[in-house]
Amino acid sequence: MFCINVDGLSKSYGSVKAVNDISMSVQSGQVFGFLGPNGAGKSTTIKLLTTLIQPSGGSLSILGIDAIKNPLKVRHKIGVVLQQPSYEPTLTVEKSLEKYGMMWNVPKNERKKRTENLLTEFDLIEIRKKRNEDLSIGQRRRVQVAREFMHDMDLLFLDEPTVGLDPSARRKLLDYLKNKVKTGLTIFFTTHILTEAEYLCDEIAIIDKGKILAIDTPDALKNRFGKEKTIKIHLIKNQPELKSQLSGISDCKIDFNTGTNITIHSTQSELVLMKILRILNNNGIDVDDLSAVPTNLEEIFLKMVEENVSNN
Ligand SMILES: Nc1ncnc2c1ncn2[C@@H]1O[C@H](COP(=O)(O)OP(=O)(O)OP(=O)(O)O)[C@@H](O)[C@H]1O
Ligand SMILES: [Mg+2]
Repeated sequence: MFCINVDGLSKSYGSVKAVNDISMSVQSGQVFGFLGPNGAGKSTTIKLLTTLIQPSGGSLSILGIDAIKNPLKVRHKIGVVLQQPSYEPTLTVEKSLEKYGMMWNVPKNERKKRTENLLTEFDLIEIRKKRNEDLSIGQRRRVQVAREFMHDMDLLFLDEPTVGLDPSARRKLLDYLKNKVKTGLTIFFTTHILTEAEYLCDEIAIIDKGKILAIDTPDALKNRFGKEKTIKIHLIKNQPELKSQLSGISDCKIDFNTGTNITIHSTQSELVLMKILRILNNNGIDVDDLSAVPTNLEEIFLKMVEENVSNN
């Protein structure tokens, strides 16, 4: 069952094609990650999918409802946490949750129960009496995400929910979301942090300049580039003559940075590694550290975006 179906969706602002003819389907019960650099069109897509703005073209079905014809029907069934912070400055943390529950017509008893639960889950107990305007950025973001769980929904849209959160708050939120998905929630999640997408998402779309460059599972994306490894060499001292010697090795791409750090990408890493060792050995060059690791999703992402730039 698909809960998001998008076909040829576009949104232009003057000559800027913020979202440029995207098509995708999101299965119910999964976390779908929308990944892209600044200005890629992530927030615009979320605003389109949540009916906050009208598309310039294309069709859009959310939870089986034609979202262009029936935006209000869609809005009643979804949750949204936008990228722009929204809060009432003078309201306390607990009152913010309460009030949000009221807006969604959650009965009083249930509201109290949910408020207590969310205050605990989002580590807000100690600051429950603080006013929103007195909170730190990360605390405020936690309140903003927490309050969305005051009401029931089938589908939740989160636009960079972890921005401003410290590593432990970030992990806690991701785990909270994972548990919610186990109970049947579907999440559409944007981020530019790859490790986060890898940790949370069942499927990932990589978007840049309004276009989807790839949609796949994190594993499949990695497999596509799976044979590639990154070899890192750290030399004890700068060896200017090494550059030309290494450049003679085929089947690899070499980046020299500070003079003592060398990064090499290759799909023939064993072979390349042996050749490197031979050169280092023959020249009596001391190595501080040498490693070969599978290229991670972050590097795949950077590479795709880089290629997209050079193709345009
Ligand atoms: N209301 C608007 N009016 C004019 N241009 C807009 C508007 N909203 C977005 N854009 C443009 O559309 C493009 C996509 O913006 P969008 O906010 O969707 O990017 P994003 O992927 O969310 O970026 P970020 O990671 O910085 O949040 C950008 O070039 C932006 O300047
Ligand atoms: Mg954005």
